Amino acid sequence: MNKQPEFWNGWRDRLAALRNVPTVLRFVWESGRLVVVLGLVSRIIASILPPALFWVSKFIIDTIFRIVTTHQPITNRLWWLVAAEFALAVSTGLVGRLIDYLDALLAGRYMNHISVRVMEHAASLDLVAYEDPVFYDRLERARVQATDRLYMIQAIGRLIQQVITTITLSISIIVFSPWLLLLLIVGVIPAFVGETHFAFLGYAKNFRQTPVRRQLDYLRVLGGSKEAAKELKLFGLRDFLTGRFKALSDQVYNEDIALARRKVIAGSGLSMIGMAGYYTAYVYAVWQTVTGVFSFGTLTLLANAIREASSNLQQTFSTLSTIADQALFLTDLIAFFEMKPTIRSKANALPAPRPIQRGFEFRNVSFRYPGSSRLVLNGLNFHLRPGERVALIGENGEGKTTIVKLLTRLYDPFEGQVLLDGVDLREYDLEDLYSEIGVIFQDFMRYEMTARENIAVGRIDRINDLELLQESARKSMAADVLRKLPSGLDQMLGRRFDGGVDLSGGEWQKVALARAYLRDAQVLVLDEPTSALDARSEYEVFKRFAELTTEKMALFISHRFSTVRMADRIVVLENGRIAEEGDHDTLTTLGGRYAEMFELQAASYR
Ligand SMILES: Nc1ncnc2c1ncn2[C@@H]1O[C@H](COP(=O)(O)OP(=O)(O)OP(=O)(O)O)[C@@H](O)[C@H]1O
Ligand SMILES: [Mg+2]
Repeated sequence: MNKQPEFWNGWRDRLAALRNVPTVLRFVWESGRLVVVLGLVSRIIASILPPALFWVSKFIIDTIFRIVTTHQPITNRLWWLVAAEFALAVSTGLVGRLIDYLDALLAGRYMNHISVRVMEHAASLDLVAYEDPVFYDRLERARVQATDRLYMIQAIGRLIQQVITTITLSISIIVFSPWLLLLLIVGVIPAFVGETHFAFLGYAKNFRQTPVRRQLDYLRVLGGSKEAAKELKLFGLRDFLTGRFKALSDQVYNEDIALARRKVIAGSGLSMIGMAGYYTAYVYAVWQTVTGVFSFGTLTLLANAIREASSNLQQTFSTLSTIADQALFLTDLIAFFEMKPTIRSKANALPAPRPIQRGFEFRNVSFRYPGSSRLVLNGLNFHLRPGERVALIGENGEGKTTIVKLLTRLYDPFEGQVLLDGVDLREYDLEDLYSEIGVIFQDFMRYEMTARENIAVGRIDRINDLELLQESARKSMAADVLRKLPSGLDQMLGRRFDGGVDLSGGEWQKVALARAYLRDAQVLVLDEPTSALDARSEYEVFKRFAELTTEKMALFISHRFSTVRMADRIVVLENGRIAEEGDHDTLTTLGGRYAEMFELQAASYR
């Protein structure tokens, strides 16, 4: 009952997937026009060479036969024919090599082109997308497809060549007997159906396996990662991890093998039918020759043409099913390219205000993460005015980082508005807005690149402005870190690459902080940028931060009250809203939530 619709759905999907082919052809075309044109021309030449060769052979044999049976002298015509056959044979070899070369060229270009497109597109998508496992699976498949779908292009080239060869050979056969051709065609159809069917099963299997493969990848990376090594060793987790890896990889392997086995068995049976078609046709040609209907030349021509046409037909069908198969795989790549970011600039977006006059305002903002029912922010109202240094505090998970993400428009609110100078953030040009914000996140990036690059990512167009880089490093105290590095600014950081030097958590923070100073932005946001700093460094960093941001708006998040108390205004976040706000003295005398938290921390120092 169940099998039938699944089978037909499979076919429908396969046909539907062919819609992907034009898109891929466009990518191919974009990656190298001249190479594509040259490739096409050489394939067309290659496709008419075999039939031409067979016809010349026929004429040679018929000429020899006439010379021998009629005892005539050898004519120049015979030598010309032999010369022509030689020329054709040489050309076949040369064109074949040329095609291989052009294929390699195109493959390289296509791979690079698609990889770049995937990176560009992934970077343009919403942050939200990255928190969705379905998106990850799709990105993963798109990545693999980007580099793995070269068959498709080669298959299309081959298809063109095979179709032309098959047509010219078929014409040669039809000239003598149309029935022969019909026989050949009927013979190869079962193999074609089989091929496409298995191609679909293969795709369905890979689709099913993606989550498992993702798990496998994670385990593999974890098993070899520097970050995890300490815990894996001390907690004795090797066997636990390898055991889990082995169980999953065995599962994938067994499924792969089961399908491969079925394919071999069915494929052998089906190609046998094609073979039977070929030999029936051959027997017919032999019989016609023996009875004097065909000449010897014709028999050779037909034998060659039938053999080649039959194998070309079979290949044409299998190439077709390869294309259908590859097209199915490409569904994810194309779906990935069709994903559109929702956070982007509208048409005629406003430039960011310079200077900012009234600052940021959160008006009745509610927010929940996609796929979660909990409101992290619930009707939040909050101001950040120019020249103000505001500290945002609250317990873990109260939504401090979430506020930063909304303020910097990495997310849009679920309800309410975030305004800048009274205008909704969504009205501003996104890139222009981002250029006015310098933010260092709690989970800032440690780039496995040079120290110079690690700082310059804050404003990558100034990577060669040595003075600016050094000044930012001084402000963030990264200069002390750089001084200790053997190659200074050009020291490779992290342990991944040759000659890399790893930094301590606090040292990394100082380097990351330099990015914020490098950015000549009106708004500075620091999300626990000093959590790993020692007490003296933290004090220094914040003193400088206060001095350096007098003209700017600054928002910082910290769990340390020694830092928090330096703020002009402290905002206490609780249950998705603001519980209290004011400066340190006001809040301590108020005797509320802030006073309680402050007392708790102070008590532990006494
Ligand atoms: N990407 C996400 N997807 C779903 N839920 C999230 C996501 N990020 C955060 N949350 C949830 O939102 C809530 C607020 O998180 P947020 O990171 O804003 O807290 P925080 O106040 O910065 O905490 P901390 O002091 O630990 O940094 C948390 O309960 C968390 O579970
Ligand atoms: Mg946080």
